[in-house]
Amino acid sequence: MLQQLERLHAACFPHKPWSASDFMDLKKSGCDIIASENGFIVYRVVADEAEIITIGVAPDARRGGVAAAMLAIAEQDAKKRGAAKMFLEVATDNTAARALYCSAGYAEVGVRPKYYDGVDAILMARQL
Ligand SMILES: CC(C)(COP(=O)(O)OP(=O)(O)OC[C@H]1O[C@@H](n2cnc3c(N)ncnc32)[C@H](O)[C@@H]1OP(=O)(O)O)[C@@H](O)C(=O)NCCC(=O)NCCS
Repeated sequence: MLQQLERLHAACFPHKPWSASDFMDLKKSGCDIIASENGFIVYRVVADEAEIITIGVAPDARRGGVAAAMLAIAEQDAKKRGAAKMFLEVATDNTAARALYCSAGYAEVGVRPKYYDGVDAILMARQL
């Protein structure tokens, strides 16, 4: 599974691929990972708050609802475990991801200037 995650991550983030051991470290640090053949989502629940760490869908499987489905599963799990709010960060120039989060009900709650190699990050959140 970790090798599959490594391959999927490289396909989704070719300029910043994560290794299998990066995913192992995330697991050890308390993150949850949901993965399928076509996509993955990494999130963390801490007390009454949760955070999407990353999400990716293989290029040839996009626009089929995979990301929206994984996001919904992560949100349901976080809520069941006591989280009241989900947070995430997204680069201002990532139009696909911003559209995904807007369609899932996330609202902008802040900006982190120059967060991603000089590109601002938008902090988004939604009530669970
Ligand atoms: C962002 C990403 C995860 C979306 O995955 P996906 O499976 O294609 O998304 P979905 O099919 O579930 O899309 C759900 C909704 O999000 C919006 N959306 C998703 N991709 C979009 C795009 N390229 N353009 C416009 N809207 C988009 C649409 O509203 C879509 O609903 P619709 O298809 O019924 O119109 C995918 O493009 C990806 O892996 N990108 C590279 C990695 C990345 O940037 N991850 C996010 C880091 S913050």
